[in-house]
Amino acid sequence: MRKRVSIIGSGNVGATTAQLIVHSGIADVVLFDIVEGMPQGKALDLAEACPLWNSSSTIKGTNNYSDTAGSDIVVITAGLARKPGMSRNDLFHANADIVRCVCIEIAKISPNAIIIVVTNPMDVMAQLAWKATEFSCKHVMGMGGVLDAARLAAFLSWELNVSPEDIEALVLGGHGDDMVPLPRFTTVKGIPVTELLSKKRIDLLIERTRSGGAEIVAFLKSGSAYYAPAASTFQMIKSILLDEKRLLPCAAYLNGEYGMKDIYMGVPVILGKEGAEKIVEVKLTKEERLQFRKSCASVRKLIKKLSI
Ligand code: NAI
Repeated sequence: MRKRVSIIGSGNVGATTAQLIVHSGIADVVLFDIVEGMPQGKALDLAEACPLWNSSSTIKGTNNYSDTAGSDIVVITAGLARKPGMSRNDLFHANADIVRCVCIEIAKISPNAIIIVVTNPMDVMAQLAWKATEFSCKHVMGMGGVLDAARLAAFLSWELNVSPEDIEALVLGGHGDDMVPLPRFTTVKGIPVTELLSKKRIDLLIERTRSGGAEIVAFLKSGSAYYAPAASTFQMIKSILLDEKRLLPCAAYLNGEYGMKDIYMGVPVILGKEGAEKIVEVKLTKEERLQFRKSCASVRKLIKKLSI
């Protein structure tokens, strides 16, 4: 049986993720949106590209949840994107209502799906999705760390004039201004960047990573980043569908790991066919622990506002 990925929200991130999936041919795709005609049009366009990509993936655009039934993975990108000057948290209440409704539908018709939440503020939305679906926490996760780490890796590769392929970056914590990039665990072919760059240079690149999303929003004027977010989501999808067991930073449910309980936070997770199969704990320094706790506190504040 071919695997099926449903994408709820066929805007920039959703449609670009769909493109990466059908281009790779690893699954069939259902593109869902509330806007009539739009997912159908995008799906038809992508389907017409499949012969050129030698892909046997099928893709369907729809406004009916019934077409997403029995999905293996559901990606939630439904919601409002940031406008210039808006923080991720400004999107909070509108997107919470959208994500809650989406999850109730998904839980009914795809009870065994693995859910990847992209909608911002993502960590809180992941927690909301877990509560609303009542799925196992291994089956609900959020995309944020892969993107933050990719941005840091891109900036490091320009700074060091080295291929991004040789850079492994690690960013923990919430997907927001309090994210916790870890230079100690960020390496160029195994060499910690702390050996290659001064603290001052590293701090500058970390700052740029923290505001990486806002930097793009400021250029675009309307809408926010979607190529790298879609590529990050695709990396998670691929690891799950092909049971690759990649170790990727994702928002996962913490139940004592990293000293935190009952919260979705960005941590390194092994992703395979069972979903978020294992959280890998690294020992943090006092300073890193403080940053991680601060990031958790910001996410908790929002969780409280939603009473979840
Ligand atoms: P977009 O505006 O291009 O697409 C959002 C789509 O959701 C629209 O097509 C809209 O019609 C649809 N939608 C709205 N309500 C819906 C509902 N109830 N059911 C189904 N679809 C619905 O936005 P974009 O750029 O694709 O971003 C989507 C979300 O992802 C935003 O919340 C954005 O902030 C977030 N995002 C998160 C990232 C992360 O790293 N976690 C990175 C980039 C974006």
